[in-house]
Formats: sequence, structure tokens, C-alpha cells
Amino acid sequence: MHTHDELKLAFSIEFSEPRADIWVIDAKDFTDSTDVLRSFLAEDELVRYERFACQQSAATYLAARAGLRFLLSCYLNLPARSFVIKTEANGKPFVENLYNLYFNVSHSSHMIVIAFAGNRLGVDIEHLERKVDLAAILRRFFSPTEQSSWAQYQQADTQRTFFRGWTRKEAVLKATGEGIAGLAHNEISFAPDLQKAMISYCGSKDAAVSWFFYELEPAPDFIAALACQVSLNVVRELRLLPEMVSAGT
Ligand SMILES: CC(C)(COP(=O)(O)OP(=O)(O)OC[C@H]1O[C@@H](n2cnc3c(N)ncnc32)[C@H](O)[C@@H]1OP(=O)(O)O)[C@@H](O)C(=O)NCCC(=O)NCCS
Repeated sequence: MHTHDELKLAFSIEFSEPRADIWVIDAKDFTDSTDVLRSFLAEDELVRYERFACQQSAATYLAARAGLRFLLSCYLNLPARSFVIKTEANGKPFVENLYNLYFNVSHSSHMIVIAFAGNRLGVDIEHLERKVDLAAILRRFFSPTEQSSWAQYQQADTQRTFFRGWTRKEAVLKATGEGIAGLAHNEISFAPDLQKAMISYCGSKDAAVSWFFYELEPAPDFIAALACQVSLNVVRELRLLPEMVSAGT
């Protein structure tokens, strides 16, 4: 059971020091909380939610967007529907007129991660069971240097190693907001060592050093990465539960 005081404590820590909170949400936990979640959405988000043909995609969208609004409302101490969430040119969501709190969202199947920090950041989550044509993806999306890194590390737990590299690359693309358009701007490594996560950034090995990476396993068979161009001292992994959302309403 989460009391109001416990919740307040979790959100009272400032982002003035370089740190991040990564919230993990399992949409399956919220199947009985649909009405509460819907009450957080803006009109256009409700329209988008109603239009999903696939029930799981709808449930994941609802938990992700309502979760984002709930968490923002806790950090900012404002009502969940009071923010305008807009998107940058390449699709990165941001809150209008908010300059000291950054966030990014990722979802895969029923799992969602939402990261918050005082600096621009990106997150990506992937399901390790996802069936993909590794060879084709490597050829299409990864540079020869990245493919060499894959050749070096692929023997150890192939799926995990592949999605470790994939989530790193996506997290960087999402941190800058470029999305797929920025694919060639970063070269990541498949090495387990986080210190070696990026090989080059915009063609420079020195620029790669300033990037910070964090890796987590938000649920069994899921892997996620956070990327930020500022080194973070502390990263907290937190789980959003239905009773927290109900307590906050
Ligand atoms: C859209 C993209 C940013 C991520 O897409 P994805 O990995 O399929 O999906 P994720 O769940 O991780 O992220 C989607 C969320 O990121 C956010 N997002 C969308 N565009 C974004 C951008 N340019 N920058 C940062 N965040 C973005 C949104 O919140 C979105 O969720 P929503 O649509 O429910 O609001 C982009 O990188 C992409 O098109 N990737 C395709 C995957 C691929 O081929 N990768 C190549 C191998 S590395």
C-alpha cells in the first residue's frame, strides 16, 4: 500500500542535480483502472485511444499517456489535464513552457518505460522474444563499425546482445529527437560494458565520451536503455502501480 506521504517523498526530489527517474508501467496491471486512466487524458488523446483497433495497443497507449500525465502532475504539483503535450518536428513529445523537466516514453507489447531528468534524454524498451531478421536489420540500420562490434559480441546471448545495441541506438535517436532521421549520427557498440556503449557521435570518438547510458531489465525478457548527453549521478528505477494512481486522484 502506498500512502500519500510515500508518494510525496518519491516526487519531492529535485532534478537540479544530474539524475533521472525511470518509471516502469505494465499495462496489464491497469486493466481494472481504465476509468481512472481515462480521466487523465486530454480530449484529443481520448479520441486517439478510442480509435485503436487492437485492444492491447489501446491499453498500452492509455497506460503510457495517462501514466505520463499522472507522473508529470506529481513532479510539477499541477492537475494531470492542465498540460499541453506537443510534438517536435520529428515526433518527440514535450510539454509546452516546461524547461527544467524533460521526459521520454517507450513501449513494447504491454510494457512501458517513462524517464524523467533535468536534461534531454531518450529511452527505448524492447521485448527479447521479438522475432526479427537480425542480419537484414544489421545491414540496413547499422554501420560497418557497428557490425564489427556485433561480430565481436554476438556469441554471448544473441537476442540480449542484439537488443542491447538496438535500445542504445534508439535511446540516442530519441534523446536528440531526430528519430530514424539521425540514424547515421551515432555508432553504438554491443559491448556489455556501459562505458563503451557509444563508439562515435557525429563522426567523433571524443564526442561519444560525453554520452551517458543506463541499462535495465524492466520485466523478465524485456531490456531497456536510457541515453543522455549529460552524465547522471543517480538513476532510480520505480514502478507505477494502480493504487498509486488511485491515491493520487
Ligand atoms: C519513432 C521512433 C522515435 C521510436 O519508435 P519505436 O522504437 O518504434 O517506439 P517507442 O515505443 O520506443 O517510442 C515511441 C514513443 O516515442 C516518442 N517519440 C516519437 N517520436 C520521437 C522522437 N523523434 N524522439 C523521441 N521520442 C519520440 C513518443 O512518445 C512515442 O510514443 P507515442 O506514439 O505513444 O506517443 C523512431 O526511432 C523510429 O521510427 N524507430 C523505428 C525502429 C527502427 O527501425 N530502428 C532501427 C534500428 S536501431
